[in-house]
Amino acid sequence: MTLPIRIARLQDEIDELAAISEAHHPAVTRVLFSPEDQRARTWLEEKFRSVGLSVRHDAVGNIFARWEGLHLELPAVATGSHIDAIPNAGKYDGVVGVLGALEAIRALQESGFQPVRSLEIIMFTSEEPTRFGLGCLGSRLLSGAMTPDRALALRSREGLSLAELKIEAGYPEDPELASVRLPQDIYRAFVELHIEQGPTLERDGLDIGVVEKIAAPSSFRFRLEGSGGHAGAVLMPGRRDALLAASEIALAVEKAALESGCPDTVGTTGVLRIEPGAINSIPCRALLEIDLRDTNVKTRQGALDFIRKAAEEICLRRDIDLDYEPINLDPPAICDPQLVDLIQRETETANLKAHRLISRAYHDSLFMALLCPTAMIFIPCRHGYSHRPDEYSSPEQIRAGVQVLGGVLRDLAST
Ligand code: GLV
Ligand code: MN
Ligand code: MN
Repeated sequence: MTLPIRIARLQDEIDELAAISEAHHPAVTRVLFSPEDQRARTWLEEKFRSVGLSVRHDAVGNIFARWEGLHLELPAVATGSHIDAIPNAGKYDGVVGVLGALEAIRALQESGFQPVRSLEIIMFTSEEPTRFGLGCLGSRLLSGAMTPDRALALRSREGLSLAELKIEAGYPEDPELASVRLPQDIYRAFVELHIEQGPTLERDGLDIGVVEKIAAPSSFRFRLEGSGGHAGAVLMPGRRDALLAASEIALAVEKAALESGCPDTVGTTGVLRIEPGAINSIPCRALLEIDLRDTNVKTRQGALDFIRKAAEEICLRRDIDLDYEPINLDPPAICDPQLVDLIQRETETANLKAHRLISRAYHDSLFMALLCPTAMIFIPCRHGYSHRPDEYSSPEQIRAGVQVLGGVLRDLAST
């Protein structure tokens, strides 16, 4: 049965949430525990309550909104995503999975459906790495992929800890992060709706991507220390310029990814900061933050080894001190085959054109897969653009995703 999805209502909510942003329209910026993130959370909780969902949040700020089923003792069916947004992002990344889930639940309620097991929407804290350089904080803690000690040791660029930022954002001095972890199989399943963030669905004229696997992300930092000095007075021979070494390392990252032997290896030097950063001063320090992903952990490891060896050689040759700091080295996630089949069947029932694919971006599903059977539904986005203000999925594309999500949730919550 087609669900009575009211796409105009959902689109209005997507626009309303996009307006809670540090950046001006059409860009969206919502960084963990910023005033905008706090306002967005309050707005969202109000939305959840307005349709009768019971809301709780945990010690890291994950929000859970539950529609109780007839059998409270049965593991619930979960869905959701994130509403934080990297600087200068668009309005659909993550948001479609949270507000789309809300619309799916409203449509189920309005269709007269009564869930046997509870349905729960999760809004995960800090899927984006903006604040601490590490993404998926909420789902990592919730699934046990990260220990509370590791989370407490993280520092923002300003040197603040998670606990300090939370208090600054107005949370009470509070519960232990250890309480965030959920027991294994607390959920029957987790299904996340998300924009593809890549071009394949649009290119192939498809409505839905059924995700079979999520590529394995990793990231790390290099800190380089050379020697500064006057740009005019210090002659070229013997300089210890940290930026020049960093530049060679960034090129080695590209080479490592291109020559890994696997077409899925991608390497990006997304951060390069130098000090002192003055036109007439030789850069004495450089910080590189590098993102390296692959579907295959062996070729990723090969690329990582190549980059580390290249960095050592470059720095030795240029007489630069080098420090390596790993940030994360996560395995890939395989989506649950039965859920994948169920999503595929729902697309057929809804007469939508679908295709199975790999998620090259990471998502909270990567960690939810450690906790319970997990799968993802992708919808196309224009030109595959994401993490930029012109990110766009049409109302009809969003409707298709919500239709499939609603059908899957109805099926899973019926027994
Ligand atoms: C998530 O935003 C990612 O970087 O894959
Ligand atoms: Mn993102
Ligand atoms: Mn996302």
